[in-house]
Amino acid sequence: MVLKNRVHDDSRPSFQRNTLSYVPLNGEPGADNTTRTRQGPSTQKNWSGTLGRALPMIQGIQLVPTSALPDKLRSIFGFETFNAVQSKCFPTAFETDDNLVLSAPTGSGKTVIMELAICRILSLPKTSDFKVVYLAPTKSLCAERNRDWQLKFRALDIQCSELTGDTEFAQLRNVQNANVIITTPEKWDSITRKWKDHAKLIKLVKLFLVDEVHILKESRGATLEAVISRMRSMGPNIRFVALSATVPNSDDIATWLGRNSSSPDLPASREVFGESFRPVELHKKVYGFESKANDFAFESMLTKQ
Ligand SMILES: Nc1ncnc2c1ncn2[C@@H]1O[C@H](COP(=O)(O)OP(=O)(O)OP(=O)(O)O)[C@@H](O)[C@H]1O
Ligand SMILES: [Mg+2]
Repeated sequence: MVLKNRVHDDSRPSFQRNTLSYVPLNGEPGADNTTRTRQGPSTQKNWSGTLGRALPMIQGIQLVPTSALPDKLRSIFGFETFNAVQSKCFPTAFETDDNLVLSAPTGSGKTVIMELAICRILSLPKTSDFKVVYLAPTKSLCAERNRDWQLKFRALDIQCSELTGDTEFAQLRNVQNANVIITTPEKWDSITRKWKDHAKLIKLVKLFLVDEVHILKESRGATLEAVISRMRSMGPNIRFVALSATVPNSDDIATWLGRNSSSPDLPASREVFGESFRPVELHKKVYGFESKANDFAFESMLTKQ
């Protein structure tokens, strides 16, 4: 008897689904008019007054409205209320310059945390000449992020540009002029290896965003580790935000990154959200199948199941 794990991702409505999608507010149709508190009161600010109506608590987290942001930045977000994960991270991401490590399930809206860190830069005075570097492990993720952020940040006159193996020579000037450079660890490694050639560019980097940071433990992790270490040694004032859905040792990453340049011995701020914050509940089922004569026959039998 051989046991094989098979994971089914049933898209059923659930309590968890409500925690991340729009939740009817108290007094609105569909609202149950009770405070959705599961773990006692939150110590977060109460933003209800900003919207002129009560915002729910989700798993002990007070939701934050996008109106908590300055007017010009609000347009980036196509919704009125940050979800529970985003609301919990809001004070660190938008109100401090601390490094941040976030582990939250797939689809929980981690991209918004990076956008809040960019908004932080835009909300400060004297921010006309700055660079943000976004690292993702694949060219397709970079292309998707570039398309999304070009649209979102255009209204704020923030230029985004992709720099990957697919970038043509003619487009390199756009990259130099862009505020947000979207690239892969390998490409940024090749740019920064002889960093003195690009010292001017690198001195402008204020924020370094690392998406899917769990690749640190994979075969390409060495490059990512080298790139982050190089950036830490080159620019003492660079803020790091590292995100992942699956990183089990976020505490190690937080200790490695440090809080900020003035407190490098303290760990980076860290937020970890479990499966209850998944937008869609995941059901795990284990089925048993009888072993066949060889692995090929067994695989073929599984495919037919
Ligand atoms: N507060 C919100 N209200 C409504 N929709 C939201 C909110 N935040 C994010 N979303 C939407 O949720 C979807 C998933 O967000 P996102 O891609 O940032 O998730 P993720 O955590 O990065 O997932 P993954 O781990 O797969 O990369 C997107 O379509 C996004 O527009
Ligand atoms: Mg993501």
